[in-house]
Amino acid sequence: MQDSETVDQIDDTPIARAAQAAVQAIGRAGEGLPRPAATRVIVVANQKGGVGKTTTTVNMAASLAMHGLRVLVVDLDPQGNASTALGIDHHAEVPSIYDVLVEGKPMADVVQPVVDVEGLFCVPATIDLAGAEIELVSLVARESRLQRAIAAYEQPLDYILIDCPPSLGLLTVNALVAGREVLIPIQCEYYALEGLGQLLRNVELVRAHLNPVLHVSTILLTMYDARTRLAAQVAEEVRTHFQNEVLSTAIPRSVRISEAPSYGQTVLTYDPGSTGALSYLEAARELAQRAVGPGGGSLVGQQRGGSGTGHSAPVAQHGTTEGHQ
Ligand SMILES: Nc1ncnc2c1ncn2[C@@H]1O[C@H](COP(=O)(O)OP(=O)(O)O)[C@@H](O)[C@H]1O
Ligand SMILES: [Mg+2]
Repeated sequence: MQDSETVDQIDDTPIARAAQAAVQAIGRAGEGLPRPAATRVIVVANQKGGVGKTTTTVNMAASLAMHGLRVLVVDLDPQGNASTALGIDHHAEVPSIYDVLVEGKPMADVVQPVVDVEGLFCVPATIDLAGAEIELVSLVARESRLQRAIAAYEQPLDYILIDCPPSLGLLTVNALVAGREVLIPIQCEYYALEGLGQLLRNVELVRAHLNPVLHVSTILLTMYDARTRLAAQVAEEVRTHFQNEVLSTAIPRSVRISEAPSYGQTVLTYDPGSTGALSYLEAARELAQRAVGPGGGSLVGQQRGGSGTGHSAPVAQHGTTEGHQ
């Protein structure tokens, strides 16, 4: 982790301290992000492990909530890392997403508030979920159980972020059926694009057969180390392939980001002035503004269902993933 240590010393520069002071001065980390017309359900997926899915889910979610939006994180990985990072108890007896998917329990019965961040909520995952991949196979509507649970959840929410496991099995398929948008975190390293084609094909399959509004709306470069040429090359390649989807903010490699989960926190509360926290705040701002800004609008003007999942009425496609295969 020597690289990261060096990079993170940036956190301790006068500029970073000034930034921290600025964040504190703003108080709620800068209000005024647009509230989407209806709940945006975003699936954070990449079948590769360790690319920053969970880190991105919890920190984007916290950033949005700190801007005054109401955000729910659905932890769909049996590891329960998102639950851990949000300080949510997820030992075996805790009611969890497993009960929702397999037992049909209402989501309202398992949602927990995140203590440190107002407006942020979490559906935890426990180790039970490891068996769900197999148990789901024999259940009715096995691909759409999450979608149904979300549709039946009546609390007002601006965002639902679903943290997927590192596979393309039934859990991820449930997420893709439940969501409207896919956010793919890409780690700026060698082999970064390997396997991406498979993920995109799965998105296309789900779009063709199960969820016509699904599209890849956002790509986020993670663990970016500005000092290496490799990171710059990977970033450039990704930006060339996905001109419209890649956020201009890349998340730097930062020790603060990786330390935060062991304190049951997001980097936003663990070290609000760190470069890691500021970059996630910025990425979240981009995500929120793209949906409503001119040209970036994947939501505004489109008919959204009243269910909260936003895809009860099929709408025109944006075709954002077309041409990338
Ligand atoms: N920007 C970052 N800087 C440093 N470490 C990071 C960063 N993003 C993620 N990590 C660390 O990398 C590891 C993998 O990240 P994680 O979000 O758990 O990936 P995934 O959910 O895709 O498996 C974790 O230990 C996490 O703390
Ligand atoms: Mg994860």
